[in-house]
Amino acid sequence: MNEVYEFEWVEVADFDDMSSYAAELFERQLLRKPDSVLGLATGASPIGFYEKLVERHAQGTFSFAQTWTFNLDEYIGVEPSHPTSFHNYMKEHLFEKVNLPVTRRHLPDGMADDLNEACLRYEMMIRTSGGIDMQLLGIGVNGHIGFNEPGTSFHSRTHIVDLAESTRTVNAKYFPSKDAVPRQAITMGIQTILEAKQIVLLALGEQKVEAVEQLKRGVISEDFPASCLHRHPHVTVFYGK
Ligand code: F6R
Repeated sequence: MNEVYEFEWVEVADFDDMSSYAAELFERQLLRKPDSVLGLATGASPIGFYEKLVERHAQGTFSFAQTWTFNLDEYIGVEPSHPTSFHNYMKEHLFEKVNLPVTRRHLPDGMADDLNEACLRYEMMIRTSGGIDMQLLGIGVNGHIGFNEPGTSFHSRTHIVDLAESTRTVNAKYFPSKDAVPRQAITMGIQTILEAKQIVLLALGEQKVEAVEQLKRGVISEDFPASCLHRHPHVTVFYGK
């Protein structure tokens, strides 16, 4: 349970390289198991990954017809159709471009009347699907994964979070102003993420150097959420400047 594992560290030359390698891993996963359950992320890091995956899918070698997807997170109080929602991001970058049936796509419901119930339901759906086979992650400058900010319990499951000020500042570029950035989100928990069978982390760019260094030091602490990944036996990290 408290075993510590080595990551597979893959240094990449650039964004294009990282995106291709990661897309190849997901393609291989879908070739091996067409009804895979994929855990997906939003943000700047996976944009190239989705582009490559869509390109590969267009070649007709694999299908999303039997695949299930679960995204890491969604803002609370942002309509799915709003341009800044993660629902919209996923439509734009993946869902509208591949043959993944609507009923197989899942993101947390940040508009639910009962948000706690929505969190429980999300956990249940992941479990009912058989669990996540391959989980894509980005990393925040403060080490967050999903929206699990520093201090989040490693035992957490899908839950409501108050976004860290640093996260709101970084994400302000997607909104008219920082004030418009939601203060809360629903995110898969750390425990939920750790239950994925395989994890692929994208950590490229100057802004991520410090976080990557901290990961390399290997100190496991809830103050640096991504450090939980050292407890997972199958993590690939694509990193570079
Ligand atoms: C996105 C998510 C976040 C991002 C992280 C890095 O669904 O959960 O943890 O992966 O904030 O974001 P980028 O890739 O924009 O640097």
